[in-house]
Amino acid sequence: MTASPQVEQGRRVEPEQRPATKPAGSAPRGFGSTLRVDRWIIKPVLIAGGLLVFILYATWSSIFGIPYFGVDYAAEGYHSPFFGIVIGETVLPAWLSPAILVLWIQILFRATCYYFRGAYYKAFFLDPPACGVGEPTVHRRFAMENKFPFILMNAHRFALYLAFIPLVVLWWDLVVSMVHDGTIRVGVGVFLIAADAILVSLYVFSCHSFRHLVGGGMDCFSCSASTQRRHGIWGWVSRINVHHGKYAWASLFSIILVDLYVRAIALDIISTSTPIIGGFL
Ligand code: FES
Repeated sequence: MTASPQVEQGRRVEPEQRPATKPAGSAPRGFGSTLRVDRWIIKPVLIAGGLLVFILYATWSSIFGIPYFGVDYAAEGYHSPFFGIVIGETVLPAWLSPAILVLWIQILFRATCYYFRGAYYKAFFLDPPACGVGEPTVHRRFAMENKFPFILMNAHRFALYLAFIPLVVLWWDLVVSMVHDGTIRVGVGVFLIAADAILVSLYVFSCHSFRHLVGGGMDCFSCSASTQRRHGIWGWVSRINVHHGKYAWASLFSIILVDLYVRAIALDIISTSTPIIGGFL
């Protein structure tokens, strides 16, 4: 695809200069036409399936689990990551899940993520279905991220600032889970929550916007002690940024795993006193 002259010269593209419809791109015309000979369809199908599983499970767990099925989100000192902030339980009506207080931040952050945009634009919007594969011609009538509503995707950096709130709560939940009935506990639940906290942290700190936050807007990395420090942090973030997509998926499924574990205890399917090899659940 050929970049516009404004982009090539590195200048800001003013709103009135942005194309009213999507540029044609270089993929063959016609939905599904391609010169690719590999099985390109497998990846978008897997991504669509994975995202659907997460969306359906998260909706059941965070919106309907308590008000409509009465399955508690906390048990034996463990706490579902979908319910990071539960102060709303006392002020919200019974039919409204307290997960709503933090869920909108998670949705905003993940839906505007550069990685997930690339993934679900392909998997759900077929825009395009895969690299080098023709997309539905109807897309040509839209300006995509140049106009409302998709221009709101540019708010991702603000979603990043908000995402630090549930992240702090997640680490706090880990500390709380380790101190149970006045004693220090190290069980399977603690390991699961710790793994989840680490994976979510890697996902947040490998964010492209975070990389820009720590290393962007500087002309000289070596000019002072503070810019050298920022360069060091930027180098570290750049190293994990390469794996951002992996952390995005791993953290999605670690959240589900912790939630399933807590619900299983709440439903008496497993017990925290059931002995396992080398410890206790
Ligand atoms: Fe994925 Fe920021 S780019 S979270």
